[in-house]
Amino acid sequence: MEAVALRRGETAPELIEKPRPDPDPGEVLVRTLRVGVDGTDHEVIAGRHGELPADDDHLVLGHEAVGVVADPNGTDLREGDLVVPTVRRPPADGPTEWFERGQPDMAPPDETVERGISGAHGFMSEYFTSPTEYLVTIPDSLAKWGFLVEPVSISEKALELAEASRSAFDWRPESAIVLGNGSLGLLTLAMLDDRFERTYCLGRRDRPDPTIDVIEDLGATYVDSRQTPVSEIPDVHEPMDLVYEATGYAKHAFESVGALAPNGVAALLGVPDSWTFEVDGGDLHRELVMTNKALVGSVNSGRRHFEAATETLSDMPAWLLDDLVTGSYDVSEFEQAFEDDETTIKTAVKFHTQ
Ligand code: NAP
Ligand code: BGC
Ligand code: ZN
Repeated sequence: MEAVALRRGETAPELIEKPRPDPDPGEVLVRTLRVGVDGTDHEVIAGRHGELPADDDHLVLGHEAVGVVADPNGTDLREGDLVVPTVRRPPADGPTEWFERGQPDMAPPDETVERGISGAHGFMSEYFTSPTEYLVTIPDSLAKWGFLVEPVSISEKALELAEASRSAFDWRPESAIVLGNGSLGLLTLAMLDDRFERTYCLGRRDRPDPTIDVIEDLGATYVDSRQTPVSEIPDVHEPMDLVYEATGYAKHAFESVGALAPNGVAALLGVPDSWTFEVDGGDLHRELVMTNKALVGSVNSGRRHFEAATETLSDMPAWLLDDLVTGSYDVSEFEQAFEDDETTIKTAVKFHTQ
């Protein structure tokens, strides 16, 4: 079967041939429909994040997948069920504590592998196998957009953690800003639209730009970081009850604190490289304490978040998904799914139609 993989030492994905996998007991065989591409895939390809499986010379890419059960292999799933896989799996030496607790998304990085990202092959192949416990069944109506369940689940978890950090008092948030107009940022902006009265999204693009169009079509305000640095957002617009960082730009983690209203919370999602810069640690510390602010980091997502994401995605308007997904490419044209220019928002590689 064909698979899109990154070979050791290479800096671009390739189409390779691999044997179709056989499901082990407790596993099913899934026929892949579509697999999405996000900023993390670009970071993996650039060698800035993740790692190849230790005993292989390549990594099959892709962690945002939707597929159809081709062989239920005696499990409770049925042939034809539409499924989305979660990303984390136990490391080679067996399940660690957070897997046993059913919350692998809370495992530290050395206690898990991530399919398509770190230490385990991903889903960008004609077929993949998975234990049923890591597959979430979704309605047939999501066959086309099901690859977006995983990224939406990332924000379900991050927003849950952020809201939980404010649950000790009567928090009445009204304003939210998403930092970053990539696919994660825009999907999250769409989620916040229903939950906040006023929403904003930060980018660094000139008009005309398809991401600014999506921001404004959602009724949100575009903020250009070249004109309005994050720390000046309260003066130019308003202090934010929620900041959702999805730029991976490390200064934003600290500047977020200055953009928050008292009692606000900033969720950090970006995975930056090492970067040394000056921060007034005294001001930052004082501000967090004296105005009851919180900074919450969040990575990955669990089954519960995938289930919530399925509902959230089902409620998203068709125009938004059409505008966000700027290309779905047959596997023979997979390279186009990895092109990252200003006309691209979200792309996917197509393996089968059903
Ligand atoms: P992406 O497509 O690369 O999006 C990042 C966006 O941020 C880009 O549109 C970029 O604008 C914008 N940006 C970067 N620096 C900026 C600045 N200084 N001012 C204004 N805009 C800026 O990536 P993504 O897939 O949306 O993901 C976003 C981040 O979240 C990445 O770091 C990714 O690794 C991380 N992530 C984390 C998780 C998790 O579980 N924690 C899950 C998914 C993704 P331009 O395109 O104009 O450069
Ligand atoms: C994936 C997560 C993963 C994270 C860190 C994200 O792009 O969606 O599932 O945990 O990267 O590798
Ligand atoms: Zn991702």
